[in-house]
Amino acid sequence: MVNIAILGFGTVGSGVAEVLAKNSAHIDQKVETPVRLKYILDVRDFPDNPFGDKIIHDFATIENDPEVDIVVETIGGAGVALDFTRRALSAGKSVVSSNKELVAEHGCELLQLAARKGASYLFEASVGGGIPILRPLSQCLAANELTEVCGILNGTTNYILTRMIRAGLSFDAALREAQANGYAEADPTADVEGHDACRKICILAAIAFGRHIYPRQVPTEGITGVTLADVAYAESCNKKIKLLGRAIRQDDGRICAYVAPHLLDGENPLSGVEDVFNAITVKGDAIGDVMFYGRGAGKLPTASAVVADVMDAARHIKSRKRVEWGPGGEDVTVSPERLETAWYVRAKGRVDAVRAGFPGVALLSRSGAPAEEVAFLTPVMTGAEVLERLGALEPQSLFRVLD
Ligand code: HSE
Repeated sequence: MVNIAILGFGTVGSGVAEVLAKNSAHIDQKVETPVRLKYILDVRDFPDNPFGDKIIHDFATIENDPEVDIVVETIGGAGVALDFTRRALSAGKSVVSSNKELVAEHGCELLQLAARKGASYLFEASVGGGIPILRPLSQCLAANELTEVCGILNGTTNYILTRMIRAGLSFDAALREAQANGYAEADPTADVEGHDACRKICILAAIAFGRHIYPRQVPTEGITGVTLADVAYAESCNKKIKLLGRAIRQDDGRICAYVAPHLLDGENPLSGVEDVFNAITVKGDAIGDVMFYGRGAGKLPTASAVVADVMDAARHIKSRKRVEWGPGGEDVTVSPERLETAWYVRAKGRVDAVRAGFPGVALLSRSGAPAEEVAFLTPVMTGAEVLERLGALEPQSLFRVLD
């Protein structure tokens, strides 16, 4: 028998309880022992909920109960969740988490603690919701030298952009829909400002390249600056606006990681990823390009990944499941400033200024554009060079363009 305690009975925690109950026969058979939900820790009571009798309010009950083998942390944040995770691992219990903030900030430390205690620390659900990505990246692609990981890593922003593109919805109306569907973080600022995607690219980069990368080392821009005008200009040249997280290994081994909106060519497979779906592309020297695709947020897709980790931890109760990466440091990353790409520019100004700064570029058009608005795609160059050449043009939007 393996006993589970869930910390936090919100969207993901309640989904985990549901999947454990609904698929219990199948789960027990695969793990080859009964997997039982013993406690749910939350500050609230849920008297009318079918799992209401499992609710407790004191973490010490879980910490001190030798019968609890696996703790599922779905609280989120890096406050109390960090304290409970450290205490659970210190007590020799394995921890399964969907908490990307905690892993991105403290993953290296928590993995080392788990290793010392002979426990597993697993967090497949922290990136890509229900998409299997961390395990394939660390195991199935282990034979490759990886050079780049790039993806649509946030379901809420992808949903918002899709609704803006397809239905012409305003940013606020699309965000309200995403919240109603349970995709957004408790504070959706983390979604729309790109912080959620930033945490996820940190975790992907740590697994792909073997060193901890802190969110503060990853320049991050969200989608609050994307307008319906940008959507229309992108469409006019057969491109889609997508929020991407990218981590690229440089020749000197350092990692260039950032999060920003991009214009993606219609031929790029990531451009067809819509609604709450996420997708991650990985480049390896043996495999070439590989892409992972699926539901990146939502109660049951995320619970699917958490419960799979619970089953993996349950099978490895006596021999911990190994995941690890090296410590972070200032020498691990380089700024994306020197990364050259084509750029999409929307600016206030005159066509002659475009001709002077960017000779030969074609102007983009959209219906209803105000006088003195110009938009165009630049040749490949750094962002600093674009700004230098703008001259009298006043930039409104500046996004990288990828084929
Ligand atoms: N708020 C996140 C998203 C949830 O929209 O992708 C999954 O991490």
